[in-house]
Amino acid sequence: GPGLVEVAFKVNGERRKLSADPRVTLLDALRERLQLTGTKKGCDRGQCGACTVHVDGRRVLSCLTLTATLQGKEVTTIEGIADGDELHPVQRAFIDHDGFQCGFCTSGQIMSAVEVVEEREVRTDDQIREAMSGNICRCGAYPNILDAIKQAKKGRP
Ligand code: FES
Ligand code: FES
Repeated sequence: GPGLVEVAFKVNGERRKLSADPRVTLLDALRERLQLTGTKKGCDRGQCGACTVHVDGRRVLSCLTLTATLQGKEVTTIEGIADGDELHPVQRAFIDHDGFQCGFCTSGQIMSAVEVVEEREVRTDDQIREAMSGNICRCGAYPNILDAIKQAKKGRP
């Protein structure tokens, strides 16, 4: 319709097409148009990390990303990281280390952690904490999240 933009992109490996208001955020498109509600809306203004997803393999805050900018891109959400029935190693590590309490921040924490685990230059506890500092946990699960990330990093170059 008038004023709408057509956007074709991939979400968790599937081609999706949306016609959306140019102001619609990726967060709202995921939750309200694509029923992918694993990505959470915390602050909706870039300050909590609950909405973290990947675009072309790098983490982004979906509340600050306009859907209209995603033509041809690949989006990955928490629903897309497991390999069939097999959890992603970072998901497994969060379970092994009780990396969550209420769970609200968890999908964002995990999507950030998936990238941090792959970052070779992030090694020490302080570097991991710094790299994860955009993901707020109101329950204070930080020590367990750190342990989970360290487990997931083990054995990586
Ligand atoms: Fe996006 Fe808080 S909901 S950073
Ligand atoms: Fe509750 Fe992080 S587990 S906000």
